[in-house]
Amino acid sequence: MSTLSNGSTSSGIDPGALLAIRIVVVIVALAIFIPLIRCITRKMKLSLANDLATQINNHAIAAPQAVPVEKFWQIDAVTMEQFLLDIAREKPVRFTAQQLCGFTNNYSTRLGSGGFGIVYKGQFPNGMQIAVKVLSRGSGKAVEEQFMAEVGTIGRTHHINLVRLYGFSFDHIMSALVYEYMDNGSLDKFLFNETSVIEWEKLEEIAIGTAKGLGYLHHDCQKRIIHYDIKPGNVLLDANFSPKVADFGLATLGNRDSTHVSVEGYRGTPGYSAPEFLFKNHPITHKCDVYSFGMLLFEIVRRKRNTDVGQTSSLKWFPKEVLEGFDKGNVGEMIKECGIEDKDRERAERMLMVALWCAQDSPEDRPSMTNVVKMLEGGVEIPPPPKTFQYLYPPGVGIPMTHYLTGSDSNYSMTTRSNSSPYYGEATPIMRKYEIEIAQTK
Ligand SMILES: Nc1ncnc2c1ncn2[C@@H]1O[C@H](COP(=O)(O)OP(=O)(O)OP(=O)(O)O)[C@@H](O)[C@H]1O
Ligand SMILES: [Mg+2]
Repeated sequence: MSTLSNGSTSSGIDPGALLAIRIVVVIVALAIFIPLIRCITRKMKLSLANDLATQINNHAIAAPQAVPVEKFWQIDAVTMEQFLLDIAREKPVRFTAQQLCGFTNNYSTRLGSGGFGIVYKGQFPNGMQIAVKVLSRGSGKAVEEQFMAEVGTIGRTHHINLVRLYGFSFDHIMSALVYEYMDNGSLDKFLFNETSVIEWEKLEEIAIGTAKGLGYLHHDCQKRIIHYDIKPGNVLLDANFSPKVADFGLATLGNRDSTHVSVEGYRGTPGYSAPEFLFKNHPITHKCDVYSFGMLLFEIVRRKRNTDVGQTSSLKWFPKEVLEGFDKGNVGEMIKECGIEDKDRERAERMLMVALWCAQDSPEDRPSMTNVVKMLEGGVEIPPPPKTFQYLYPPGVGIPMTHYLTGSDSNYSMTTRSNSSPYYGEATPIMRKYEIEIAQTK
């Protein structure tokens, strides 16, 4: 466009006015296009987040049916979208206490409780189900350690036989962990409750899946993870009864190069924990999990606890009976007494042999979890297991150390964790402030 000497354009419009028109046109265009583009990207992101969440959940996310979630604190779509993306990126997400209160519908559905707190059912606003473990604050440092350990380990660990940690909440008021929800709860319910029974084949699959999860922790993670608390309560079952190992709360990250992780004091649950915990200054390695897994195997075969808690004298302890059974050659009868059909007898016997190998007194004699998987799957021949459980009959001590199996000795007070926490006995001012109601215990 040519410019005339008097400053007007050839069309006779003043250049200043022309510039002003251009600016107005650009502003109008931006005002129309920017929101349009934002809207399109948001829609794309939302659909991507939903896809990722679907993958995480491993099944289609249906909108919550029957009971609509009462949202005490609304979570906007963008925030939720970010949560899901972070979870999909395997980054544990940090939630506020208020958000967890909303997710759990004010902590209305209690799933159970353990040594460190209470577990509640919940769901994200998109309908994805979750389990929220609110940690009791009573035991102070131990809880904080457990919390930090869990977030640092499970949050970055991914395997089909390990429970996913989606996120956490941690502030001066409360700490909690947000897990993937497991429809069928924990294995102990099915092993020790006569009314809920799982078929033998499925139990065998559960044993193998659990072994694979542990094998992954021990041998395939970037850093070796020792669980320290393998027991039926920490094996969770999804809707198809596939097992996932839960609660790496007591785990300590150790470099794979180092041969052992020394821990101060005792960890785990009496009846499942390895004998090396009895001895001071004895190195604790990943083989302590192999021992506990052995105890779990005995319970899976018998579908009963290895020992009755509280029974201290003339204790009938199934693992010892199995050892004697192999000696006397009457394991077949024992298996029959466990209610296992003839067609499954051979596999049950194999499982008991593996259990005895896992339960060797010396950690070095126990197989690795990778080999345990092979043995359970029948891929390798299993040599007869050597004698074990000598630690229960130390020389010079007249009576067997059966208290170690039940945790009934006062020396083990540090090991037995109470299920009741004074903190959660009644609503504290802080809980009232956050409108947290404690579900009634039966
Ligand atoms: N992710 C989950 N999905 C469904 N139910 C769960 C989930 N996590 C825990 N639960 C339920 O809550 C119960 C209590 O779990 P919790 O881990 O607190 O105790 P525990 O495993 O018995 O003992 P510990 O404190 O030694 O782990 C479990 O037995 C199980 O029924
Ligand atoms: Mg647990």
